[in-house]
Amino acid sequence: MSKAGRLVVLVSGSGTNLQALLDASADPSYGARVVAVGADREGIEGLARAAKAQIPTFVEKLRDHETRVEWDAAIAARIAEHEPDLVVSAGFMKILGAPTLDSFPVVNTHPALLPSFPGAHGVRDALAHGVKVTGCTVMLADAGVDTGPIIAQEPVPVLPDDDEAVLHERIKTVERRLLVDIVGRMVREGWTVKGRIVRIGNQPGGEST
Ligand code: GAR
Repeated sequence: MSKAGRLVVLVSGSGTNLQALLDASADPSYGARVVAVGADREGIEGLARAAKAQIPTFVEKLRDHETRVEWDAAIAARIAEHEPDLVVSAGFMKILGAPTLDSFPVVNTHPALLPSFPGAHGVRDALAHGVKVTGCTVMLADAGVDTGPIIAQEPVPVLPDDDEAVLHERIKTVERRLLVDIVGRMVREGWTVKGRIVRIGNQPGGEST
Protein backbone atom coordinates (compact mmCIF):
# COMPACT_ATOMS: atom_id res chain seq x y z
CA MET A 1 0.00 0.00 0.00
CA SER A 2 1.23 3.55 -0.70
CA LYS A 3 2.22 5.79 2.23
CA ALA A 4 -0.61 7.23 4.33
CA GLY A 5 -1.50 10.83 3.45
CA ARG A 6 -0.36 13.37 6.04
CA LEU A 7 -3.12 15.40 7.68
CA VAL A 8 -2.67 18.53 9.78
CA VAL A 9 -5.94 19.16 11.61
CA LEU A 10 -6.81 22.63 12.97
CA VAL A 11 -9.20 22.97 15.93
CA SER A 12 -10.64 25.65 18.23
CA GLY A 13 -12.96 23.64 20.45
CA SER A 14 -14.08 20.20 21.51
CA GLY A 15 -12.43 18.41 18.60
CA THR A 16 -14.98 15.66 18.03
CA ASN A 17 -14.36 15.88 14.27
CA LEU A 18 -10.63 15.55 14.99
CA GLN A 19 -11.40 12.50 17.14
CA ALA A 20 -13.35 10.93 14.28
CA LEU A 21 -10.33 11.40 12.00
CA LEU A 22 -7.99 9.97 14.66
CA ASP A 23 -10.25 6.94 15.09
CA ALA A 24 -10.56 6.36 11.33
CA SER A 25 -6.81 6.62 10.78
CA ALA A 26 -6.15 3.81 13.26
CA ASP A 27 -7.08 1.52 10.35
CA PRO A 28 -4.18 1.54 7.82
CA SER A 29 -6.63 1.04 4.96
CA TYR A 30 -8.01 4.53 5.67
CA GLY A 31 -4.97 5.89 3.84
CA ALA A 32 -4.43 9.02 5.93
CA ARG A 33 -3.04 9.80 9.35
CA VAL A 34 -3.06 12.89 11.54
CA VAL A 35 0.56 14.08 11.85
CA ALA A 36 -0.14 17.27 13.84
CA VAL A 37 -2.96 19.24 15.42
CA GLY A 38 -2.89 23.05 15.45
CA ALA A 39 -5.04 25.49 17.41
CA ASP A 40 -5.58 29.22 17.84
CA ARG A 41 -6.05 28.92 21.61
CA GLU A 42 -4.88 26.87 24.57
CA GLY A 43 -6.84 24.75 27.00
CA ILE A 44 -9.30 23.19 24.56
CA GLU A 45 -10.47 19.61 24.44
CA GLY A 46 -9.24 19.27 20.86
CA LEU A 47 -5.63 19.69 22.03
CA ALA A 48 -6.19 17.23 24.88
CA ARG A 49 -7.47 14.66 22.37
CA ALA A 50 -4.32 15.14 20.27
CA ALA A 51 -2.07 14.79 23.32
CA LYS A 52 -3.87 11.61 24.36
CA ALA A 53 -3.26 10.20 20.89
CA GLN A 54 0.40 11.30 21.14
CA ILE A 55 0.08 13.59 18.13
CA PRO A 56 2.30 16.72 18.08
CA THR A 57 0.41 19.97 18.68
CA PHE A 58 1.03 23.66 18.12
CA VAL A 59 -0.82 26.80 19.21
CA GLU A 60 -0.65 30.07 17.32
CA LYS A 61 -2.68 32.80 19.01
CA LEU A 62 -3.73 35.88 17.08
CA ARG A 63 -3.06 38.13 20.06
CA ASP A 64 0.60 37.08 20.15
CA HIS A 65 1.09 38.85 16.81
CA GLU A 66 1.13 42.54 15.96
CA THR A 67 -0.98 42.05 12.84
CA ARG A 68 -3.23 39.49 11.18
CA VAL A 69 -0.70 39.31 8.33
CA GLU A 70 1.95 38.15 10.80
CA TRP A 71 -0.39 35.54 12.28
CA ASP A 72 -1.24 34.30 8.77
CA ALA A 73 2.47 33.76 8.06
CA ALA A 74 3.13 32.19 11.46
CA ILE A 75 0.35 29.61 11.29
CA ALA A 76 1.34 28.71 7.72
CA ALA A 77 4.91 28.13 8.90
CA ARG A 78 3.74 25.94 11.80
CA ILE A 79 1.59 23.89 9.42
CA ALA A 80 4.42 23.60 6.89
CA GLU A 81 6.75 22.06 9.51
CA HIS A 82 4.57 18.95 9.35
CA GLU A 83 4.55 18.66 5.53
CA PRO A 84 0.84 17.93 5.15
CA ASP A 85 -0.78 16.50 2.05
CA LEU A 86 -4.05 17.98 3.29
CA VAL A 87 -4.99 20.47 6.01
CA VAL A 88 -8.36 19.93 7.71
CA SER A 89 -10.04 22.88 9.38
CA ALA A 90 -12.28 20.98 11.82
CA GLY A 91 -14.05 23.57 13.93
CA PHE A 92 -11.14 26.03 13.57
CA MET A 93 -12.81 29.39 14.11
CA LYS A 94 -10.39 31.54 12.08
CA ILE A 95 -10.21 32.32 8.40
CA LEU A 96 -6.87 31.16 7.02
CA GLY A 97 -4.86 33.62 4.95
CA ALA A 98 -3.00 33.35 1.67
CA PRO A 99 0.22 31.91 3.15
CA THR A 100 -1.70 28.75 4.13
CA LEU A 101 -4.28 28.66 1.31
CA ASP A 102 -1.61 29.13 -1.40
CA SER A 103 0.60 26.38 0.03
CA PHE A 104 -1.78 23.55 0.96
CA PRO A 105 -5.20 22.20 0.04
CA VAL A 106 -7.49 22.95 2.99
CA VAL A 107 -10.74 21.10 3.69
CA ASN A 108 -13.26 22.87 5.91
CA THR A 109 -16.43 21.59 7.56
CA HIS A 110 -19.49 23.64 8.43
CA PRO A 111 -22.72 22.81 10.32
CA ALA A 112 -25.21 24.12 7.73
CA LEU A 113 -26.12 23.60 4.10
CA LEU A 114 -24.02 26.28 2.42
CA PRO A 115 -24.43 28.78 0.90
CA SER A 116 -27.10 29.22 3.58
CA PHE A 117 -25.96 30.22 7.07
CA PRO A 118 -22.18 30.69 6.73
CA GLY A 119 -20.08 31.96 9.61
CA ALA A 120 -19.57 31.17 13.26
CA HIS A 121 -23.25 30.57 14.11
CA GLY A 122 -24.54 28.34 11.32
CA VAL A 123 -26.75 26.26 13.62
CA ARG A 124 -28.21 29.23 15.53
CA ASP A 125 -28.88 31.15 12.31
CA ALA A 126 -30.64 28.19 10.67
CA LEU A 127 -32.86 27.71 13.74
CA ALA A 128 -33.69 31.42 13.90
CA HIS A 129 -34.63 31.40 10.22
CA GLY A 130 -37.09 28.58 10.83
CA VAL A 131 -35.75 26.15 8.25
CA LYS A 132 -37.07 22.60 8.53
CA VAL A 133 -33.98 20.98 7.01
CA THR A 134 -30.39 21.99 7.61
CA GLY A 135 -27.26 19.86 7.50
CA CYS A 136 -23.52 19.97 7.03
CA THR A 137 -21.12 20.91 4.27
CA VAL A 138 -17.56 19.80 3.58
CA MET A 139 -15.79 22.26 1.30
CA LEU A 140 -12.41 23.44 0.11
CA ALA A 141 -11.44 26.53 2.05
CA ASP A 142 -10.89 29.79 0.19
CA ALA A 143 -10.30 33.33 1.40
CA GLY A 144 -13.99 33.93 2.20
CA VAL A 145 -16.16 32.86 5.11
CA ASP A 146 -17.42 29.37 4.15
CA THR A 147 -17.45 30.30 0.46
CA GLY A 148 -15.13 27.67 -1.04
CA PRO A 149 -16.10 25.00 -3.59
CA ILE A 150 -18.44 22.45 -2.02
CA ILE A 151 -17.24 18.84 -1.91
CA ALA A 152 -20.15 17.13 -0.13
CA GLN A 153 -23.30 17.90 1.83
CA GLU A 154 -25.82 15.97 3.86
CA PRO A 155 -29.24 17.08 5.11
CA VAL A 156 -30.35 16.88 8.75
CA PRO A 157 -33.98 17.54 9.85
CA VAL A 158 -34.80 20.32 12.28
CA LEU A 159 -37.26 19.00 14.89
CA PRO A 160 -39.89 21.15 16.64
CA ASP A 161 -38.26 21.15 20.09
CA ASP A 162 -34.68 21.63 18.95
CA ASP A 163 -32.46 24.16 20.62
CA GLU A 164 -29.04 25.08 19.24
CA ALA A 165 -27.15 22.46 21.26
CA VAL A 166 -29.50 19.58 20.43
CA LEU A 167 -29.58 20.42 16.73
CA HIS A 168 -25.80 20.90 16.58
CA GLU A 169 -25.24 17.45 18.12
CA ARG A 170 -27.59 15.86 15.56
CA ILE A 171 -25.69 17.63 12.77
CA LYS A 172 -22.29 16.67 14.17
CA THR A 173 -23.18 12.98 14.18
CA VAL A 174 -23.66 13.22 10.41
CA GLU A 175 -20.81 15.71 9.92
CA ARG A 176 -18.16 13.49 11.52
CA ARG A 177 -19.06 10.57 9.26
CA LEU A 178 -19.12 12.77 6.15
CA LEU A 179 -15.80 14.47 6.96
CA VAL A 180 -14.05 11.16 7.61
CA ASP A 181 -15.44 9.71 4.39
CA ILE A 182 -14.48 12.71 2.22
CA VAL A 183 -10.99 13.22 3.67
CA GLY A 184 -10.20 9.52 3.25
CA ARG A 185 -11.45 9.46 -0.32
CA MET A 186 -9.55 12.63 -1.25
CA VAL A 187 -6.29 11.25 0.09
CA ARG A 188 -6.77 7.80 -1.43
CA GLU A 189 -8.22 8.81 -4.79
CA GLY A 190 -7.13 12.42 -5.43
CA TRP A 191 -9.43 15.17 -6.64
CA THR A 192 -9.83 17.88 -9.23
CA VAL A 193 -11.38 21.33 -9.08
CA LYS A 194 -12.85 22.98 -12.17
CA GLY A 195 -14.34 26.33 -11.28
CA ARG A 196 -16.56 25.49 -8.30
CA ILE A 197 -16.95 21.81 -9.17
CA VAL A 198 -14.93 19.37 -7.06
CA ARG A 199 -14.63 15.77 -8.18
CA ILE A 200 -12.99 13.05 -6.15
CA GLY A 201 -11.36 10.08 -7.82
CA ASN A 202 -8.71 8.89 -10.25
CA GLN A 203 -6.95 12.21 -10.34
CA PRO A 204 -3.88 13.69 -8.71
CA GLY A 205 -4.82 15.63 -5.56
CA GLY A 206 -5.33 19.32 -5.71
CA GLU A 207 -5.25 19.94 -9.47
CA SER A 208 -7.32 22.97 -10.33
CA THR A 209 -8.16 24.84 -13.48
C1 GAR B 1 -18.39 21.63 13.90
O1 GAR B 1 -19.78 21.47 13.86
C2 GAR B 1 -17.93 22.49 12.76
O2 GAR B 1 -18.66 22.35 11.58
C3 GAR B 1 -18.12 23.87 13.34
O3 GAR B 1 -17.65 23.75 14.64
C4 GAR B 1 -17.94 22.43 15.11
C5 GAR B 1 -16.70 21.87 15.74
O4 GAR B 1 -17.01 20.72 16.47
N1 GAR B 1 -17.42 24.86 12.55
C6 GAR B 1 -17.95 26.04 12.22
O5 GAR B 1 -19.01 26.43 12.62
C7 GAR B 1 -17.08 26.86 11.29
N2 GAR B 1 -17.86 27.82 10.57
P1 GAR B 1 -15.84 19.82 17.08
O6 GAR B 1 -14.85 20.78 17.75
O7 GAR B 1 -16.53 18.93 18.07
O8 GAR B 1 -15.19 19.06 15.96
